[in-house]
Amino acid sequence: MIIGSKLLFFANLPSTNKRAALLLKNRDLDEGTILYTNYQSAGRGQIGNRWESEDSKNLLISIILFPSMINPSDQFFISMTISLGICDFLRRYIPATAIKWPNDIYVNNDKIAGILIENSVMGSQIQNTIAGIGLNINQKKFLSDAPNPVSLSMITGLQYDLATCLQQLTSDLDKRYKQLISENFSQIKNEYILQLFRLNEWFGFKDHQGVFTGRILSVTDSGRLQIERQAGKLSEYSFKEIDFIL
Ligand code: BTN
Repeated sequence: MIIGSKLLFFANLPSTNKRAALLLKNRDLDEGTILYTNYQSAGRGQIGNRWESEDSKNLLISIILFPSMINPSDQFFISMTISLGICDFLRRYIPATAIKWPNDIYVNNDKIAGILIENSVMGSQIQNTIAGIGLNINQKKFLSDAPNPVSLSMITGLQYDLATCLQQLTSDLDKRYKQLISENFSQIKNEYILQLFRLNEWFGFKDHQGVFTGRILSVTDSGRLQIERQAGKLSEYSFKEIDFIL
């Protein structure tokens, strides 16, 4: 086992990703070490957002990785790998999960998990990766203005044991990470694409020119989203260049 080989628990923290970065500076950590906590006072989301999570209700983890086989230009493969691991875990309990590009995990039209990957790149090598995951398990009410949060419990009406969930998630992520280190890149990418939210169906999107109807066809190795427009033209987008109309 790589992911989950060491577990570091903190009753509360500002942010597991932040603490992971601090630990990486000050001491050697084994690959696969997981930091986890019950509560974050300053949980970080993408693009400077906060991540809301009620005390002791959800999984809040950061995984330390040293993916030296990945070129910095291919770093999106790390994101695909983590997304697939979370979907594997969720499918133990519910059939329908999807990856909303680039790496939000959705059930129907709601977000159940968020991923914040921070890669430290030096020259042509990824020195280390901190893969932060917030996975909503037992929380029933969300207070922030996040548009569409949901938890496993809200979907099934059941309560889950967090320790069991952590152990299962760890094992699912570990299997996916082993696929990555065996350089099964095409398998990872194909599975990621097949699990994309709104793949191959016509939906509304918004880019800098306005709203349009398009359908997701694929994702490039560098993580750009490829959308076909109704007139047949293919457009490619980086993160934040396109919004889904939900
Ligand atoms: C998102 O905005 O979708 C990403 C959310 C990532 C949240 C997790 S919770 C554990 C880890 N520590 C953080 O501060 N953020 C990530």
